[in-house]
Amino acid sequence: MKKADFVVAGCRQVVTCGRRAPLRQEDLGQVEVFENGWVAAHGGRIVFIGNEAAFKAEVEFAEDGTRFDGAGLIALPGFVDAHTHLPFAGDRAEEFSLRLKGWTYQQLAEKGLGIKTTVRATRRATLEELTTACLERLDRMLLHGTTTAEAKSGYGLNLADELKQLEAVRGAGRSHPVELVPTFMGAHDVPPEYLSKKEDYIDLLVHEIMPEVRRRKLARFFDIFCEKGVYTLAETERLVQAAKAAGFGIKIHADEFVPLGGTELAVEVGAASVEHLIAVTEAGILALAGSATVAVLLPGVSFFLRLAAKAPARRLVDAGAIVALASDFNPGTSMTESMVFVLQLGVYTLGLSIEEALNAATINGACAIRMQDEVGSLAAGKKMDLVLCDMPNYEYLAYHLGVNPVTHVVKNGRIVVKDGRPVYSSIAP
Ligand code: NIG
Ligand code: FE
Repeated sequence: MKKADFVVAGCRQVVTCGRRAPLRQEDLGQVEVFENGWVAAHGGRIVFIGNEAAFKAEVEFAEDGTRFDGAGLIALPGFVDAHTHLPFAGDRAEEFSLRLKGWTYQQLAEKGLGIKTTVRATRRATLEELTTACLERLDRMLLHGTTTAEAKSGYGLNLADELKQLEAVRGAGRSHPVELVPTFMGAHDVPPEYLSKKEDYIDLLVHEIMPEVRRRKLARFFDIFCEKGVYTLAETERLVQAAKAAGFGIKIHADEFVPLGGTELAVEVGAASVEHLIAVTEAGILALAGSATVAVLLPGVSFFLRLAAKAPARRLVDAGAIVALASDFNPGTSMTESMVFVLQLGVYTLGLSIEEALNAATINGACAIRMQDEVGSLAAGKKMDLVLCDMPNYEYLAYHLGVNPVTHVVKNGRIVVKDGRPVYSSIAP
């Protein structure tokens, strides 16, 4: 008999997502569904998924265990948001209004707005203010079903302020149920004071900031914005090689607006993921096909910037790339914490099926942050991270718009959202 101390009993459906990982091609479109499903855990790890009869036959349930009635609810793995710019200060609502009047994202950047606006605000913010902002955003993420999220720095662009952002992520992660995977993105932009001497900033990144971030164990990944007007392909290669040598996993923002070869480079250096791909070329797609580098698509960006161009999701899936969906939550190009909304954009704007979008937002997202053995699907041995949605079937995730179907969230085998409200204390889970 398996021992269990927590069970979600009698769900209308349990959708497990991904028996294997990563999911490619036809496998991305498959989900396993248990009608009247039970999910049990022991010590925060899943030990059983199946029906009531099997539960009674196979599981010894602790007398003082927690039993939650899932009647009428749909259980899914917690969403894994593999790309967020969580620790920022201020907002860009004014610039958003300018964009609605016809300014483009690049025109704002050329005028010293865009990312630089958020850099100014983030540099001014205290560690405490940034941590509080992170915690408020994490609450919204959790209420929409995200249980694991990546979080990037990149609005500090100097030693002290990059460390401050990463410390805010660490501090927030310690007192919030959403599990955070930190990424150092000191190469998100060129700091204003280095515009005429970019090489000096690259040297600073390599020789001072990267080693300090590693020394303090503040980030697992390094990320860079490889884009016209930001970092060239050669600069990206130099920084990525230095980051690899320093022990970081690699991520690259590539082919968002102008394709520079960043996708091909990501595959070549064995990056965990490459992000955006709105302007990816055929060569980039072929490089990704069959590679272990995950293509993280961020449909919030094309939607928010009102771009006609979209990442070629269908082509990437059909070619054999590992496709994930993430929010890119940030104040300038995708101001949403909701992975349900992102999943819907994946369906409506990228042409994914509901099953493909769901797997892309869970198990393939986990692959993008190399957490696929721990989170991203409901499977024995993994963390009991589960979302319960009040809807008739899982198809409602994309069918019913403009509502939040998530009513309950379980993280590490503890109920942290109940009836749509956070119920955790501020003590670390
Ligand atoms: O992923 N593309 C670069 N970075 C972010 C945008 C950040 C910002 O505009 O503040 C992105 O879209
Ligand atoms: Fe981004």
